[in-house]
Amino acid sequence: MSRRLKIINIVGARPNLPKIAPLMREMQRHPEIEPILVHTGQHYDDNLSDIFFRQMGIPEPHVNLEVGSGSHASQTAEILKRVEPVLLEHSPDLVIVVGDVNSTIAVGLAAVKLGIPLAHVEAGLRSFDRTMPEEINRVLTDALADYLFVTEEDAIQHLLNEGRPRGSIYFVGNVMIDSLRHFLPMAQKSRVGEELALKNGPDWKRFGVLTMHRPSNVDSIAKLAELLRAIDAVAAQVPIVFPVHPRTQQRLTQAGINLHPQLRLIPPIGYLDFLCLLSKAALVLTDSGGIQEETTALGVPCLTLRENTERPITISEGTNLLIGTDPGKIVAAVRDILAGKGKAGRIPQLWDGHAAERIVEILLRTLPREKAP
Ligand code: UD1
Repeated sequence: MSRRLKIINIVGARPNLPKIAPLMREMQRHPEIEPILVHTGQHYDDNLSDIFFRQMGIPEPHVNLEVGSGSHASQTAEILKRVEPVLLEHSPDLVIVVGDVNSTIAVGLAAVKLGIPLAHVEAGLRSFDRTMPEEINRVLTDALADYLFVTEEDAIQHLLNEGRPRGSIYFVGNVMIDSLRHFLPMAQKSRVGEELALKNGPDWKRFGVLTMHRPSNVDSIAKLAELLRAIDAVAAQVPIVFPVHPRTQQRLTQAGINLHPQLRLIPPIGYLDFLCLLSKAALVLTDSGGIQEETTALGVPCLTLRENTERPITISEGTNLLIGTDPGKIVAAVRDILAGKGKAGRIPQLWDGHAAERIVEILLRTLPREKAP
């Protein structure tokens, strides 16, 4: 007898939300699917979690595991322990995890140990930097998943090199860019430009956006101070808006550094305001993974404050430049961009707003729908 497919979707941290939103929306269009949403509670602040649910119309999670913050081991272990009874209760046909955060690997591991099929959205990305916690999460989740949905072609080769079967790899595009395309018209109506005095009537002033939260950049106060000295020199050339992640805020408070008045620190902001700022910025400085992709999709020059990236297509095809953390290089690259010499870039293949549709179509075609006898 044919029946509805029960699919559990997992979110935990902020970057998961724009990835799950289009998947939930697409699944809800198909009566053959019963989508269930589980929040691990890895992120719990309103401005890192709830505001994204409200703005993107993500349904209220069926369950919130409320794991909160902790060391990598304790956070991962807590998620494993708390999600197991939820998986047992629902006995889903599939669990979907996205991205590379601790919630991704923890739930993935719990699911496969119970014999539940697992899908990993954004599979195969590799920085080849094992000191990055996310790299460990990526490699391990990909080793477990039955469905490997990839955003760029390089990822296919990485998965094959790690011995993953070709038949489990699907090049579907980028669900985060689905969200960007869907919400961009709404984001353009944001009042954030007026609120931050970045607009003169209808005209935007020239400004940059900075985000920084990677442990390798912010956990050491000496490193953070060095980076901020470079950013100070940038802020002398162009005003910079800096929504500060809680991890970075803790270090900034401890460091007590004086910053250039044109470097404007604000609390984390919601998806629509942030997308609005990104789309209007003259340049973006970041150590985030997702923002490298969003700037490429928007055609906005991006300087990545890291030595490596797991998203090489943003460099080979997009607007991204891997600049590292050397102050001299950062300041010179900003000067080039402001002189109109930023990378133009093009939109990568299949970053067209339809990745979630492709994923759901594949699942409907391949997941067994007959009840086991
Ligand atoms: C996590 C992800 C990272 C992702 C980032 C996006 C892992 C290993 N890391 O890093 O890949 O890019 O989210 O934001 O999963 N905190 C709050 N409020 C919250 C959540 C956290 O104040 O709602 C504070 C806590 O003090 C916590 C610190 O931020 O200790 C760091 O949070 P945590 O979830 O450990 O890692 P992130 O740095 O956010």
